Amino acid sequence: MVPLKRRKVLCSHTGKTGNVCKFPELVLFLLERKMGASRRAFLSELGQKKGFKVEDKFSESVTHLISENNSGDEVRAWLDSQVGGRGRTLAHLLDVSWYTESMRAGLPVDIQDKHKLQEQQQTDEAETETFSVPSYACQRRTTLENHNTVLTDALSLLAENAELSEEEGRGVAFRRAAAVLKCLPKVVMDMTQLRGLPCLGEHSLSVIKDVLENGASSEVEATKNSERYKALKILTGIFGVGAKTADRWFRDGIQTLHQLRDSGQTLNRAQQAGLDHYDDINQSVTKAEADIISEIVEKAVVAVLPGAQITLTGGFRRGKLTGHDVDFLITHPEEGREEGLMSKVVSWLETQGFLLYQKTTRNSYLEAKDGPARPASNMDRFERCLSIFRLSKEKKRGAELTETLTENLKTPPSCSSSHVQQGGDREEGGKPWRAVRVDLVVSPISQFGFALLGWTGSKLFERELRRWAGREKSMSLSSHALFHNKQSRYLRATTEEEIFSYLGLEYVKPSERNA
Ligand code: UTP
Ligand code: MN
Repeated sequence: MVPLKRRKVLCSHTGKTGNVCKFPELVLFLLERKMGASRRAFLSELGQKKGFKVEDKFSESVTHLISENNSGDEVRAWLDSQVGGRGRTLAHLLDVSWYTESMRAGLPVDIQDKHKLQEQQQTDEAETETFSVPSYACQRRTTLENHNTVLTDALSLLAENAELSEEEGRGVAFRRAAAVLKCLPKVVMDMTQLRGLPCLGEHSLSVIKDVLENGASSEVEATKNSERYKALKILTGIFGVGAKTADRWFRDGIQTLHQLRDSGQTLNRAQQAGLDHYDDINQSVTKAEADIISEIVEKAVVAVLPGAQITLTGGFRRGKLTGHDVDFLITHPEEGREEGLMSKVVSWLETQGFLLYQKTTRNSYLEAKDGPARPASNMDRFERCLSIFRLSKEKKRGAELTETLTENLKTPPSCSSSHVQQGGDREEGGKPWRAVRVDLVVSPISQFGFALLGWTGSKLFERELRRWAGREKSMSLSSHALFHNKQSRYLRATTEEEIFSYLGLEYVKPSERNA
């Protein structure tokens, strides 16, 4: 209830219209949802004239929350969507009938059962489990065990669709909502279980409700079946094609790979390679395949610079069993020795026939020049090689590497697109190898901890770490460094544990960063 002092303050406030407050114990709030803005304004004014305190904004001082055509669960869901925990309330949840009767009587009528909103929670509160979840994904432990895939798939699809439409804000909102559901320890059966959870906005809640009640969300189904979504999915499936290009092609009437091939659009080298190996690249990479590639990269690295080290990063470091690519971080324990390493590794791989495509960008990070990280950007400036590997399908373990080598040398691939069949993988049927996307990144040892943290993901986990650093700690985090904005200095670290500690966060191991 409202503290006495507060009530007096509220009561002495006579409002713009000069109405006198007759019922100091009561603070009323009318929910606009389903009632509509104009009816709400009308009813509010009526109440104020009759001497009731009717608040325009919801707050914890509200004693009576009045709604029209809403169920208790819907009102609870609305309350839960109020950010920062403002949704917690001890207020009576009432139907508008209590309000209109009170207006007629000129005083607050007794609350009867018929006025109370039916809430499932009142009957089975004991069985309904609610969850408590901190609001930043980097404060949580999210394993691969997701009990709510039906809900998270629905929200992820809407996130993806927003990203394809370059609506980043909406995309992030859906990703955050999905991430909250991913870390829940049980299956969500009922909206009431979501009470008090962070990051669940009105839109996400309505999608969840739809799925819980109807088994599917109409919005998700409509999106999935829309021409635009289907086309953008196919086109961005081409390595080297982002949302912008796909959208431009879609607006030019291109919806399929056939139409793209026939359109005469000029493709850059990456896109041509992406088209040539479309089917392979869109097939998941298994952990076993990632391990074979690890062996190859390790061999390459050690051959060109003994003592250099490679680490498998990305989803596989988080314990995923499949991925869309394989990510590696390469360093050398002596600062500076890593310079020039990438081009040697790439040459070695190329000579051995392992690369179908590669593009290397050099390291452009200079602390003195670049200054602290810009938290909004996740672009880093390491020396990096985006490549497509040619992986032999030979399965026998142990002899894999040698067999892959011999196999590759028998029929060396060509990096020039003119030699690669234009038809894509389908026409290379029965081939004894597959194409796999591989990312190589070289980091100086002084930045290795940051690079490792930055390249382990998930993408949302990284985004949340940077947001936490900026908002809660006044620090700027990147894959290169951590900068203390107020102290104007870099915080040096060699391990991920130290970085979490600087950030005032409990250490979250890679397998728990699957947000
Ligand atoms: P990925 O896109 O490879 O994601 O980026 P993933 O988690 O491994 O997922 P799958 O299994 O391949 O689908 C891996 C990490 O590298 C970072 C991302 O933020 C992510 O955390 N990254 C990626 C960068 O820092 N910069 C980039 O340019 C790309
Ligand atoms: Mn990856």
